[in-house]
Amino acid sequence: MKITVVGAGAVGATTADNIVRKELAEEIILLDIKEGFAEGKAQDMSQTAALLGFDSKITGVTNDYSRTAGSAVAVITSGLPRKPGMTREELIGTNANIVRTVAENLLKHSPEVIIVVVSNPMDTMTYLALKATGLPKNRIIGMGGALDSSRFRYQLSQRLGASPADLNAIVVGGHGDTTMIPLIKHATWNSLPVTQFLSDAEQQQIISDTMVGGATLTKLIGTSAWYAPGAASAAIVESIIRDQKKLFTASVYLDGEYGQQDITMGVPVILGKNGWERILELPLDEEEKAAFSKSADAVRTMNNVLHEIGAL
Ligand code: 2OP
Repeated sequence: MKITVVGAGAVGATTADNIVRKELAEEIILLDIKEGFAEGKAQDMSQTAALLGFDSKITGVTNDYSRTAGSAVAVITSGLPRKPGMTREELIGTNANIVRTVAENLLKHSPEVIIVVVSNPMDTMTYLALKATGLPKNRIIGMGGALDSSRFRYQLSQRLGASPADLNAIVVGGHGDTTMIPLIKHATWNSLPVTQFLSDAEQQQIISDTMVGGATLTKLIGTSAWYAPGAASAAIVESIIRDQKKLFTASVYLDGEYGQQDITMGVPVILGKNGWERILELPLDEEEKAAFSKSADAVRTMNNVLHEIGAL
């Protein structure tokens, strides 16, 4: 069994590295358009096998999709990352054509593939991949919410002095600095509501730090983050490959759920061997519902750009 990661940049390589360490497939294909780049990264990772003790094989290829044939899952990380001061949305023009081409090429060689989309603007790229390939909706999953929820748990852990593993907290909505919705009223520390331990001001601070989590790192590093995006992507792949039925927030196609139609955005889903298998409908209060609908409007505006630029 094979897993493909397209794009051997920092996010793609970190995703592949996590996948190979977890031994999620006999072979992991890392594909990039830049001659020799994926081959080099794959060889570097392969040279950790003796130290880390994994048996999975990782193969780097330059733009040869025939080598991805028979992949059960493919992760698309291709496209430009953000630079400091840039929003994820500004990447749409460049990344739309890349993501479309990649998704079509993957499908040619792996008709049964489940696609995980990481490229930004993530919700719109997920929508594009779904519309461009015509795949059943359960086989297209946008990664953002898994990452944002992990960042939310980090922010909560810092403020509470708690282990992130003890915190259950999710971010829904779009994967944008102003569109994501950290659901603090639903967050728990083991089974205790975190709101019991945090003042209103602290809660607001955690929410806003979570929302600009990616932008903060882009400013510090000079480009998009990769450790948490790579770990989030690999965790999604693991739940699918091992049929773990874990609950993640992911960008999936909504057909009436959360009051939305014809859009992909972050909601809690169960991930298993069929891709996303079930959407969990949370009882949102009026404020959360309004935030979700505002977030959907922003994602939809971005999706409309796909038509304007002729990508759909
Ligand atoms: C981030 O938030 C890359 O969008 C990704 O870091």
